[in-house]
Amino acid sequence: MIQPRRIRRIAINTGGGDAPGLNAVIRAVTLASINRGWEVLGICDGYASFLGGEPLMKLTRTAVRGIASLGGTILGTTNKGNPFETQVKLPGMRRARLAADLVVEGIHKARIDGVIAVGGDGSLSIAYKLMQMGVPIIGVPKTIDNDLMYTSVTFGFDTAVQTATEALDKMHSTAAAHERVMVVEVMGRHAGWIALNAGISGSCHVILIPEIPFDITKVCEHLDARRKRGRHYAIVCVAEGAVTRTGGPVYRTPKAKGCEGRLGGIGEWVAQEIERRMGWETRTLVLGHLQRGGSPSTFDRLLGLRYGAAAVRLAAAGLWGHMVTFNPPNMGSIPLEEIAQRTKRVPVDGDTVLTARELGIGFGD
Ligand code: F6P
Repeated sequence: MIQPRRIRRIAINTGGGDAPGLNAVIRAVTLASINRGWEVLGICDGYASFLGGEPLMKLTRTAVRGIASLGGTILGTTNKGNPFETQVKLPGMRRARLAADLVVEGIHKARIDGVIAVGGDGSLSIAYKLMQMGVPIIGVPKTIDNDLMYTSVTFGFDTAVQTATEALDKMHSTAAAHERVMVVEVMGRHAGWIALNAGISGSCHVILIPEIPFDITKVCEHLDARRKRGRHYAIVCVAEGAVTRTGGPVYRTPKAKGCEGRLGGIGEWVAQEIERRMGWETRTLVLGHLQRGGSPSTFDRLLGLRYGAAAVRLAAAGLWGHMVTFNPPNMGSIPLEEIAQRTKRVPVDGDTVLTARELGIGFGD
């Protein structure tokens, strides 16, 4: 474990897709550090401050005043340009160099004693590799998808579920008015937490998630049973990463080398199949990035502040190379190496899925 002798200056960055609550983490890290007599710097747009981008930002009490309630991240973020796969040529350099080497040099040059890296699986595996290169680093888990292992819930998830539930609530009246099926596609790349939680709370009739590959015939049978009970509208909630029993995920932009590909389109496919097979008018709504935007819920603000404060406690204790975890009611930690390439998926026989089944919600299985 890397233990710098004494902390004078730490830095924080945010990487990957944004999530409501990031600014709360930044505020807590800043205040808890300043209260220990440390100086705090913000690294902009992932690690761009070391790669010719926006310069390091001094984070003072004033800089973080009033930001806990704001969506987005005051530091900017990116989910492109993994520094271990990108070559960069800065002005004055004779040849391009691996971005990760420039990041490590930049951290040393700025006399940064440790970094708090806030991000999802991609950003945390970058953090782990930087640690292996000698950077004292602490990870804070972030994703609206809630698919990171070893932590009960990530900040941003609650807000995203709230947004999705409100949208589903609104779908009921328009679907009923036109006697239509409404298919709502929500985020959830590898895991269906948002679709499941919002789908149940928003009284959906069918929920499709990546963990339960579906059969479109079964989906139609489920909807038909509802129609035969005299109900002339239905709401289907689909996670963007949902898959049929025989096919893979649907991509808007296909997978390519070094890029995961943009998911999207499964909702439209499901809608077209329902309309074609059942002759029931169907429309699709893709909620997309609406779920990542806006002010964090009270739960996510508090959780973000708790994650940030806990990260600073880990730094003070010299627990570099760890990720903060949330194990209610307490915060904890786990070595970064444990979390790489692991995904927390919805347990298909867990209580929430069971509850949905008890309520008569179909999963197309
Ligand atoms: O990981 C969070 C997430 O919102 C996924 O659900 C989604 O597939 C992805 O980010 C979209 O990212 P982008 O900002 O690149 O569109």
